[in-house]
Amino acid sequence: MATQFKVSWSWYEKHVHPITSLCYEAFEPYLQFKDEPLTILDAGCGLGVGLPIIQKWFHSDSRLVGVDIDPKALAVAASLNLPNTSVVLGNLQQLEMPDSHFDRYISCSILSWVADPSRVIAEAFRVVKPGGVAGFCVFAPRERCQWMNMQSTFRERAIMEDQGLKSSNANAFQCSSEEILRSLTSQAGFEFVHCFEQQLVIRTPDYEAGTFENPSLSKFFENPRNVEIMNELFAELRQKSEPPSVGFIFITLKKPS
Ligand SMILES: C[S@@+](CC[C@H](N)C(=O)[O-])C[C@H]1O[C@@H](n2cnc3c(N)ncnc32)[C@H](O)[C@@H]1O
Repeated sequence: MATQFKVSWSWYEKHVHPITSLCYEAFEPYLQFKDEPLTILDAGCGLGVGLPIIQKWFHSDSRLVGVDIDPKALAVAASLNLPNTSVVLGNLQQLEMPDSHFDRYISCSILSWVADPSRVIAEAFRVVKPGGVAGFCVFAPRERCQWMNMQSTFRERAIMEDQGLKSSNANAFQCSSEEILRSLTSQAGFEFVHCFEQQLVIRTPDYEAGTFENPSLSKFFENPRNVEIMNELFAELRQKSEPPSVGFIFITLKKPS
């Protein structure tokens, strides 16, 4: 199990961090504030890829907290040893943090995966100070997530003994529209500030060579037919538009003063 986890996160680091870094960077113009120290939460910080990025947007005396439900990911985030930064184990659906504590709440690629997005948003509202700002980013609608579609198509076509894996991206698009995000966040009490969508290009240099090293899928490459299916997918992709990309919707919000 531990090995599986380790391999899984190393895959994430190699193939997903180049994209999630861009997600964090896209938020900078909307969240940055250098005038005075702030208290900032990276909600669902994972391995901590966003922590050093976020830190650059704020006054150097700001306090940054990363929270995640996965202790092994947090251990990696903690090992970054960033100044004025702590990482805390926690569930975004039920945070053990006081009300009105953070000036900024930043969540990248979380609402696409959690069981109850409205609960996460309600907790975000609770822990943000009046006048504070929250930012969420989620996958754009399926048709603009070529990279995700590729994984889904692979799952559909591949010869899998464990059929459960075929639906493991099932919730990925549960918040994938401005309308849904605006509705969920206004129900929680947030004021809408801004929403935009960006198409992020996957630039992992050895992306093709490392095709889908995701351990949940890798064992299926033991079947040569699945390798052929993957090669066919890449060939299809080359005929369309390259390189693979994935769209994200970003929303920023304010807690009324
Ligand atoms: C797709 S990763 C995103 C990580 C990081 N924000 C990034 O953009 O690279 C999703 C993260 O959310 C965490 N997560 C999922 N459900 C959670 C929950 N209920 N509470 C806290 N963290 C959660 C996972 O452990 C994982 O680190």
